[in-house]
Amino acid sequence: MTRIAIYPGSFDPITNGHVDVVERGLKIFDKVIVSILTNKNKKPLFSVDERLDIIRESLKGFDRVEVDAFEGLIIDYAVKKNAAAILRGMRAMSDFENEFQMAMFNRRLNREIQTVFLMTGMRWIFTSSSGIKELASFGGDIHDLVPPFAEQKLKEKFHDVYTTNR
Ligand code: PNS
Repeated sequence: MTRIAIYPGSFDPITNGHVDVVERGLKIFDKVIVSILTNKNKKPLFSVDERLDIIRESLKGFDRVEVDAFEGLIIDYAVKKNAAAILRGMRAMSDFENEFQMAMFNRRLNREIQTVFLMTGMRWIFTSSSGIKELASFGGDIHDLVPPFAEQKLKEKFHDVYTTNR
């Protein structure tokens, strides 16, 4: 039996913290499906296609990983994909309440699919896509926080600030 985990998120863009969760998730699961939630109410920096590209390039070293996008309820998507679990990274305590609530909702909808949390490595404890986007918007150094292709794409988005400020 192939143990599949869905790793859902906005991934706008994928960070080194996310990559760490994928890498460690692969030690538990046979396959990890990294899937972007396409939420029409959110205004992402990168389009779904751009995010798919960035994730694929950033995770190309891993086999047993699928990259995808979904719309709707994660639990329906997990059933469709035959997943045993939803994988999420947990950084500080501040993540807990929201994650706990999502896990409870999902468990209420389907008790067969488990939410599995991995504690983010200490190096990535303060790493968030939104923080990185803010840093990049002011031309800050994002080198150690995101995979190289994500860094390149962020610098393209904020091209003006990186060429004039730095
Ligand atoms: O990276 P994010 O933005 O923290 O990811 C949040 C995500 C995509 C995991 C969450 O919003 C989600 O699962 N959305 C799908 C809708 C859903 O199933 N909601 C029920 C659980 S609250």
